[in-house]
Formats: sequence, structure tokens, C-alpha cells
Amino acid sequence: MSKGIARLGWILFFIMVIITAVMAWQFIYTGKTELASDNRKALILEDFEKDFLLAEMRGFLNSVHQIIDGIEKDNMEQILSAAKDSGFSDVANVPASLRGKLPMEMKKMGFSVHRAFDQMALDAEQLGDKEHTLSQLNEILATCTACHALYRVR
Ligand code: HEC
Repeated sequence: MSKGIARLGWILFFIMVIITAVMAWQFIYTGKTELASDNRKALILEDFEKDFLLAEMRGFLNSVHQIIDGIEKDNMEQILSAAKDSGFSDVANVPASLRGKLPMEMKKMGFSVHRAFDQMALDAEQLGDKEHTLSQLNEILATCTACHALYRVR
């Protein structure tokens, strides 16, 4: 093989490596989505992934309800346990395939909600101040609605 062809081979090889790296990065960054009719980004998921995501969402709503109920009844124990239910430890159960399909931006918002619930649980235990809980919940709900405005399931 002449030197020229060998060199061309290496150049092509590096071009392939760069294209693969760009595609991998793009996938990690944008996840597996398409533009939906309502202009939100739609996640392209398998049924089991969608079921998991929506079950997690209903868990969030359940926590929100239990927390508000706890605030009304002045029951810090209930707030603590409801906030913990939606804490970060929940993230460990996310199927790896679903994790891969979520855009970076969405993952960030999801993580921040889980962390905020953990912080709420911690503060409920240490401070026992329901006004503080309410303001934390208010902040969390802003992230819930921000994510819903941007993303949906196909
Ligand atoms: C990181 C993004 C994200 C965050 C944060 C988020 N959600 Fe969602 N949620 C979604 C997506 C995507 C759907 C699917 C919506 C669709 O297809 O229209 C959804 C759906 C839901 C549903 C419908 C569930 C079903 O069975 O159909 C509920 C209820 C819900 N979310 C509650 C919440 C609450 C409460 C919070 C905050 C505590 C929250 N979500 C935070 C992304 C998010």
C-alpha cells in the first residue's frame, strides 16, 4: 500500500471518529425527541419507559397533595415522608434506556426537583416550619410547570 493511501486511510479514520463523537454528544445533549404539533419536544419512548415516567409523575403529584395536606393539618411527619417519597433516591430506579433518551436540560430539571424534595424533607425535620415548606413547594412547582411547558411524551 502506498504512503498516500495509508495517509488517506488515517484521515478518513479520524473524520469518522469525530463524526461519531459529535453524534454521541448530540444524542446525550438532545436525547431522543421530535418536535410535536403543540411545539413542545416530544420524547420518543417505549411503552414501559413512558409508563415509568408517568408513574413517577403521579408520584410527584401525590407528594404535592400530601405535603399541602400536611401543611393544612400542621403535620410535619406527613410532610417529611411525602417529600422523601419524591427525593433523589427515586432516581436510582429510572431504567437506563429512559435515562439515555432524556435531553440534558430535562434531566437537570428532574434532578433539581428530586433534590428540592430532599431539602424539603431535611428542613421539615430540622426546622419544622410549614411556611418554609410552602415556599419550597412553590419553587418546586415552578420547575414542574417549566418542564411541562417544554416537553411531552409522543
Ligand atoms: C423534567 C421534566 C418534568 C418535571 C420536572 C416534572 N414533570 Fe410532570 N411530566 C413530564 C412529562 C414529559 C410528562 C408527560 C406530559 C405529556 O405527555 O403531555 C409529565 C406528566 C405529568 C403528569 C401526568 C401523569 C399521567 O399519568 O398522565 C403529572 C400528574 C405530572 N407530570 C406532575 C408533575 C409534578 C407535580 C411535578 C413537580 C413536582 C412534575 N410533574 C415535574 C415532565 C416533567
